[in-house]
Amino acid sequence: MGSSQDFFFSGEQPARVAEDLVDCLSTALLYLDSKGKILFLNSASETLLGYSKTQLAGTSVKRFVVDKALFDDIFFEFKAGQSSSKRMQLCWIILGRGTVELDTTLTHIGGEMSHCVIELVERNQGLQISREEWQADMAAANQALLRNLGHEVKNPLGGIRGAAQLLGAELPETSLREYTQVIIKEADRLKALVDRILFPTETKTLKTPVNIHELTDRVKKLIVSEFGGGTAIKVDYDVSIPEVICDSTQIVQVLLNILRNAAQALKNRKNPQIIIKTRIARQITLRRKRYPLALQVAIKDNGPGIPEDIKSQVFYPLVSGTCNGHGIGLTVAQKIVHAHGGLIDCVSRPGLTQFVINLPLTNGKLKYASRLDS
Ligand SMILES: Nc1ncnc2c1ncn2[C@@H]1O[C@H](COP(=O)(O)OP(=O)(O)OP(=O)(O)O)[C@@H](O)[C@H]1O
Ligand SMILES: [Mg+2]
Repeated sequence: MGSSQDFFFSGEQPARVAEDLVDCLSTALLYLDSKGKILFLNSASETLLGYSKTQLAGTSVKRFVVDKALFDDIFFEFKAGQSSSKRMQLCWIILGRGTVELDTTLTHIGGEMSHCVIELVERNQGLQISREEWQADMAAANQALLRNLGHEVKNPLGGIRGAAQLLGAELPETSLREYTQVIIKEADRLKALVDRILFPTETKTLKTPVNIHELTDRVKKLIVSEFGGGTAIKVDYDVSIPEVICDSTQIVQVLLNILRNAAQALKNRKNPQIIIKTRIARQITLRRKRYPLALQVAIKDNGPGIPEDIKSQVFYPLVSGTCNGHGIGLTVAQKIVHAHGGLIDCVSRPGLTQFVINLPLTNGKLKYASRLDS
């Protein structure tokens, strides 16, 4: 067997490679000395706890633990060498989220130093990943179905429209021609609807580096001019966000579809309010791919919430809770975000609906990142 040094490609520093490796993990890792002081933490820990490596190095991990006495007991057990690994549910104090119960595993490294590694996993992290995978599979299946259906509807429409035109030209009376006009108008309406469903798979994307705040500001103005100033639209921007590479026309469409839904839901509500919030996420998995940085745009409103009966299906085509809606806005938004390698998510209850658009950031490096819940 070769030594651990042989494991690394020549020229690579083992410590550097090890650090990069643990930084790639989605599990939060904390490396502690025998007194519980943090010696090292990976990027997933930074994201979870809301502090940078520099801020936390040398501080006691106990500041994040709710039951400090229990933690001491477990830690003492370690030092006494009675156990090498222990897994439990422990309550942690997380910046911007309060107390959060995390699946916590303490592993004693052993040796003279008596160091310890803590692994922290969100209880629903596994569920979240499988939900995202399921969502991506459903979206892909929907897309294929819609594309086929769209073409099946569109092809005969051209024939119907043409035949109605020819018939209209042959008819002697204007009153009879009105009927052919109705056929032409309805065929055009159906074609426009199908075009909306097929968009954007049928449209070429034009990706350029874009300042996301220029797009959100543009959409904010459009919504104010469409719905009037009755709804307060507040912004909470992280100005350090680098440019995102995207098709700006399509991302404007996504923002517009989500904000328009929010503004519609807030009609006739007391103190209607929409908040557009931008933040950075680190080491995030989007559609089965891991990214060091991602842009998060959250659009929050204090409306009645998505009707319970359609809540789990809002991204499906033709699902609408309003009498004059087509149920396409969110399907299109999801398709565009997926075409950008991103993910769109939604939580809703009476008084709070939030859509979060996650887009991978491949155009910039940040030393430390803010969080959506801060
Ligand atoms: N912020 C929100 N608050 C409450 N309900 C919402 C919100 N956003 C979406 N919805 C619900 O989700 C449904 C689907 O939205 P979607 O944008 O896909 O279609 P639509 O608005 O009905 O029609 P259109 O295709 O014209 O946008 C809406 O009809 C509405 O019932
Ligand atoms: Mg809509």
